[in-house]
Amino acid sequence: MIEKIRQTASFLQARVNDMPDTAIILGTGLGALVDYIEDKQFIPYSEIPNFPISTVEGHSGNLIFGTLGGKRVMAMQGRFHYYEGYDMKQVTFPVRVMKALGINTLFVSNAAGGMNKEFRVGDVMVITDHINLFPENPLRGKNYNELGPRFPAMTEAYDHKLIALADEIAAQKGIRLVHGVYVGTPGPTFETPAEYEYFRVIGGDAVGMSTVPEVIVANHASMRVFGVSVITDLGGKDVTQVPTHEEVQQAAELAQPKVVEIMRELVKQA
Ligand code: HPA
Repeated sequence: MIEKIRQTASFLQARVNDMPDTAIILGTGLGALVDYIEDKQFIPYSEIPNFPISTVEGHSGNLIFGTLGGKRVMAMQGRFHYYEGYDMKQVTFPVRVMKALGINTLFVSNAAGGMNKEFRVGDVMVITDHINLFPENPLRGKNYNELGPRFPAMTEAYDHKLIALADEIAAQKGIRLVHGVYVGTPGPTFETPAEYEYFRVIGGDAVGMSTVPEVIVANHASMRVFGVSVITDLGGKDVTQVPTHEEVQQAAELAQPKVVEIMRELVKQA
């Protein structure tokens, strides 16, 4: 694994002049951020040694290097989901490469179903914490001490200062920003009403099929993390609306301008 990380990092270092220290994983709902990145250099995943290829509809696979709000950034256009069949080491490989390239701050975004009764479709939720319900932890197996500790703390998995900064930015811009705990599940099914209810009872506010593996590895690698979920549908025992992939994408697109505004400013100030 160490050798593969080095190989991929060297490949990218040879291609990219001015390496950023900030990375963004563009989930459903943040694709439009790409339009705001200037002086873009696209590197398709298919050209990157050891990178898996993204398969799901609505996610294209590119690394993008460029400038956002005057700051150099690296963006992942499309991520690798566990439900696609990748194992946890593949899902989180890009985060390992980021660290090897010198990235110390990671921004992540996703679409999620809301269980919190105060939430509305189109809300933007800052992830304050998560619950890992994937069947596996990406750190299972041999620990490489050069990558991080055997038993990493997850007490502040999402950086408190970045959360406070996001709140300030949202208040200035008059954007409603809610806080919540993200429950990460393997998917690809959406939840049964009883499952949404269960996730709410155990302390979750929103549920989705990504993010948790990457955030675990980023924490293992001592990176600062900031995450947002776009609430694309609501679930619970008295909610009968059936979520579809198309609806999730549509709702995410509607919320997109809010997420883009917050992220641009946050990247600049972070
Ligand atoms: N459940 C799981 N993942 C999701 C959902 C949901 O309701 N909405 C968007 N991604």
